[in-house]
Amino acid sequence: MKVLIAGGAGYIGSTIASACSDAGISPVILDSLVTGRREFAARYAFYHGDIADGRLVDRVFAEHPDIGAVIHCAALIVVPDSVADPVGYYRANVASSLEFTAHLLRNGCPRLIFSSSAAIYRASEDLSVDEDSAIDPQSPYARTKAVCETMLADIAAAQPIRVLSLRYFNPIGADPRMRTGLQLRRPTHALGKMIQAHDEGVPFRITGTDWPTRDGSGIRDYIHVWDLAAAHVAALTRFDALPGPAAVINLGTGTGTTVRELLAAFNRVAGHPVEAREAPRRPGDIAGAFTRAGRAGRLLGWRARYDITEGIRHSLQWAARRDEMLSDETLAGPVSLPGR
Ligand SMILES: NC(=O)c1ccc[n+]([C@@H]2O[C@H](COP(=O)([O-])OP(=O)(O)OC[C@H]3O[C@@H](n4cnc5c(N)ncnc54)[C@H](O)[C@@H]3O)[C@@H](O)[C@H]2O)c1
Repeated sequence: MKVLIAGGAGYIGSTIASACSDAGISPVILDSLVTGRREFAARYAFYHGDIADGRLVDRVFAEHPDIGAVIHCAALIVVPDSVADPVGYYRANVASSLEFTAHLLRNGCPRLIFSSSAAIYRASEDLSVDEDSAIDPQSPYARTKAVCETMLADIAAAQPIRVLSLRYFNPIGADPRMRTGLQLRRPTHALGKMIQAHDEGVPFRITGTDWPTRDGSGIRDYIHVWDLAAAHVAALTRFDALPGPAAVINLGTGTGTTVRELLAAFNRVAGHPVEAREAPRRPGDIAGAFTRAGRAGRLLGWRARYDITEGIRHSLQWAARRDEMLSDETLAGPVSLPGR
């Protein structure tokens, strides 16, 4: 079987491509390279262009009539940018996804897996969420994900396509074989900042120490990106047994890790320890959440296998290798990642 991965030259999509390929599923990549890297798509059939380009999507299906499913990871993902440019974000993430889905329907694609986000949830008091928790996205970025999920469910109810929305928690790590990893040199999520502090020999700032968590620092559900990728392979394998025309599954470890705990784990893995400094919350920060992970196990027969130590170790290994794998300077600047 072949799988079309839209956004397959990005961090998560390229890891999914490797996991699929290792499992005997041939990836075909469609990516505009707006943030993705050509190097990540080089091993596969690669189409450079936008998901909204109907002629290009028609060509992909004409040249690969055996595509059995599509994984849609193509999106813009920077929360502050989405606040500054909502028109651009709704156009890129919602309007383009609608066009793309229409192109998939025209080409008879029966299965669609959509990359959604845990950022759409309102966290409960104990900071855990499951798929039935209240939806309350806090940024235009997160709202584009919620809108896409609803739109795709409406389409799946009426058209011959079934949709699975996978709500990712906080991916860390890299392909354990170091084929791909985070393409950004200076990501602004907590682990990226720790790696930077480690490399530069400066303290790490814990931003927010008065959250309602066990130690006052923010909490997240850090999932190794290879586990995330493996869940997509499981989803492809079990797709036709999933309930309803549109299903939703959380992908997290089921364990919340606070920023202080992440730093302690980092310091056990890294060569020399990073010092901590307490700092106030940043605007837009949230306490965070972790999943109650039951549905993924029941429906996909999947659970996360790597712990945060391995995620940290693989992130460090990739950070040390990134420049040799991705040689140019185009993505060197600081870029934010989704809140969760
Ligand atoms: N990274 C996270 O923390 C996180 C968390 C939850 C959900 N997600 C979702 O996972 C998906 C992948 O995220 P990522 O971290 O790999 O980001 P990424 O920026 O590394 O990957 C996105 C890819 O999509 C491509 N792309 C964007 N718009 C496109 C378009 N219109 N047409 C064709 N290609 C296009 C980019 O070039 C890039 O290769 C996104 O949908 C994102 O919303 C990410």
